[in-house]
Amino acid sequence: MDRRTNPYTPNAGAPPRFLAGRRTEVADFRVLLQRLTRGYTEQSMVVTGLRGVGKTVLLGEYHRIATEENWVAVETEVSKNTPFGPQMANLARRALLQVSPRARWGAKARAAAGVLKSFSLTVQPDGTLTGGLDVEPDFGRGDSGSLNDDLADVFEAVGEAAQDRERGVVFLFDEVQFLARAELEALIGAVHRTVRKQLPVTFAGAGLPQLPGLAGEAKSYAERLFKFPTIGELGEHAAEALEEPARAEGVTFDPAAVHEIVTYTEGYPYFIQEYGRAVWNIATGATVTHQDAVDARVTVEAELDESFFRARVQRSTQEEERYLRAMAELGPAAQKAADVAAVLGRSSEQVAPLRARLINKGLLYTPRYGYAKFTVPQFDRFMRRYMDLDGPAGT
Ligand SMILES: Nc1ncnc2c1ncn2[C@@H]1O[C@H](COP(=O)(O)OP(=O)(O)O)[C@@H](O)[C@H]1O
Ligand SMILES: [Mg+2]
Repeated sequence: MDRRTNPYTPNAGAPPRFLAGRRTEVADFRVLLQRLTRGYTEQSMVVTGLRGVGKTVLLGEYHRIATEENWVAVETEVSKNTPFGPQMANLARRALLQVSPRARWGAKARAAAGVLKSFSLTVQPDGTLTGGLDVEPDFGRGDSGSLNDDLADVFEAVGEAAQDRERGVVFLFDEVQFLARAELEALIGAVHRTVRKQLPVTFAGAGLPQLPGLAGEAKSYAERLFKFPTIGELGEHAAEALEEPARAEGVTFDPAAVHEIVTYTEGYPYFIQEYGRAVWNIATGATVTHQDAVDARVTVEAELDESFFRARVQRSTQEEERYLRAMAELGPAAQKAADVAAVLGRSSEQVAPLRARLINKGLLYTPRYGYAKFTVPQFDRFMRRYMDLDGPAGT
């Protein structure tokens, strides 16, 4: 069919033409904002899941909902290379300027600007983060040098400014697992302050599945402040994700084609988008047939390897690749460190640093103590076709 009207979106973070499933996560977020607006407290949300399940897309949806609810949403992606303090100062400044434009600042907004200015100067003394904050710094708030206290001061001040304008502010963070422990702790502490003061400010995030554990370690009351919904395969909504974008273009699927594609993709959103795109380009009639689905398979696998899987191993050393391959030998489930080491003919202690590096890079996570699992769905299948166990990496 016409490639120009191909409705599928196999790209990281690309909003799908049809957002399948996720009804609960969307409804809960809207209720969260509406409750905070009315001065009630509610647990905020940190969505977790494997790569390619739609976390970034869901955060985008949260942004859209926030705007609809007359909230200000500021969004960022955490990376290990971006210093956290300056990043927070920048986000909070953007939030404040969106809550109310400089020309219309009242007393609360001016007070918030003062706190934000002293915070900005504390985390970035050269003053490059204070643009638009042409007020005197509020010495004594946001400038103690302890990130915990200062960030809480900033959230509180921004919250008061927002409340004054009958608005709210939500900070949206992607890849939350890359926050350092002290940063996560400060963020949780700041949310705690806004809950105690019943202010319309919150933080919602997304990240890999080890997050609830990390948050619990950072602050023991994290579990009470946050819900950690897990998203994954689309299950009964997988067929909709495939069929709805096509239907909008007047194209339908044979049930056998849907079955073939849902089975292969196991209902993972990214894989469905990739398959949808390939089968669309191959099909010739207004109905996608089972044969089209079978014919598209080679393209789908090649595209997935190229765009989704290979990029992830390419950041690994040969030793790390061998570890991943050994783990793949054991299958997709969580594997005991000792079992993976045994496949390599080594002891757990010998390969522990490798394992730690792979966790640190976000390729593995630890669902429970002593076990590790791939963060990418079907990664075991990929590693087995990518690499011979005894041969060199890559073919
Ligand atoms: N609910 C959904 N329904 C259909 N497609 C989706 C859905 N969520 C995500 N996608 C698609 O899945 C892919 C991965 O989404 P993304 O948000 O980047 O995943 P993650 O951030 O979890 O790695 C994208 O191609 C996106 O268009
Ligand atoms: Mg993402």
